[in-house]
Amino acid sequence: MISSPTTAPTTTGRVLHWAARYDLLVWLLTHGRHRAFRKRLVNLARLVAGESTLDVGCGTGSLAIAAKRQVGAGGSVFGIDASPAMIARATAKAARAGVEVSFKTAVAEALPFPDAQFDVVLSTLMLHHLPRKVRQQCAREIRRVLKPHGRVLVVDFAHAQAKSGLLAHFHRHGHVDPREIIALLDEAGFRCIESGPVGISSLQFVLAERQSDR
Ligand SMILES: C[S@@+](CC[C@H](N)C(=O)[O-])C[C@H]1O[C@@H](n2cnc3c(N)ncnc32)[C@H](O)[C@@H]1O
Repeated sequence: MISSPTTAPTTTGRVLHWAARYDLLVWLLTHGRHRAFRKRLVNLARLVAGESTLDVGCGTGSLAIAAKRQVGAGGSVFGIDASPAMIARATAKAARAGVEVSFKTAVAEALPFPDAQFDVVLSTLMLHHLPRKVRQQCAREIRRVLKPHGRVLVVDFAHAQAKSGLLAHFHRHGHVDPREIIALLDEAGFRCIESGPVGISSLQFVLAERQSDR
């Protein structure tokens, strides 16, 4: 496993520095079914053995670990997040699980990877953390690091959260209309393959394919 630098790159995105509490929030969001949630996301991305995968805004690494289990020894998984605390927790989690994932502190708007490295990019519950301009930079960066016809899976909350409830007590999340996600990806050079509800809270997914150069 590649360990991460400890300094956070500059970003205007909303970076989360409370990694342990984050896992508790996901547990609450999924009513304890967090592993099934990650498996569902891996399936929505149509990940298969051997694929090279990047998780952008990977948080505490649970999805990247599930992705590595899916792509197997012949595949590879990288995860980046702007929060050193998230990357430290993700790295420790993968080591405990005995799963080889490379985590790195980096920002979504300047991905530290060469062009056309990945078959698949995942970005879940992250877009609402970015201002509009940074979202556009991020979408262009995702396109850059994807191989021709590579896929991106974007998942985010479609609606504002209810003001009451246990989850809202700990954290108030933002949201992005799925039509905005489709338009953002379209503008960056993707074609939407499939979209719809994830089945948890107001989460919606968009799976899109990188178009050939225009
Ligand atoms: C709600 S968490 C989602 C984590 C994970 N993807 C998941 O599905 O659980 C959003 C993450 O985006 C990260 N983030 C915010 N701005 C970022 C940026 N510009 N580049 C990379 N990560 C960023 C935060 O630090 C946080 O870990």
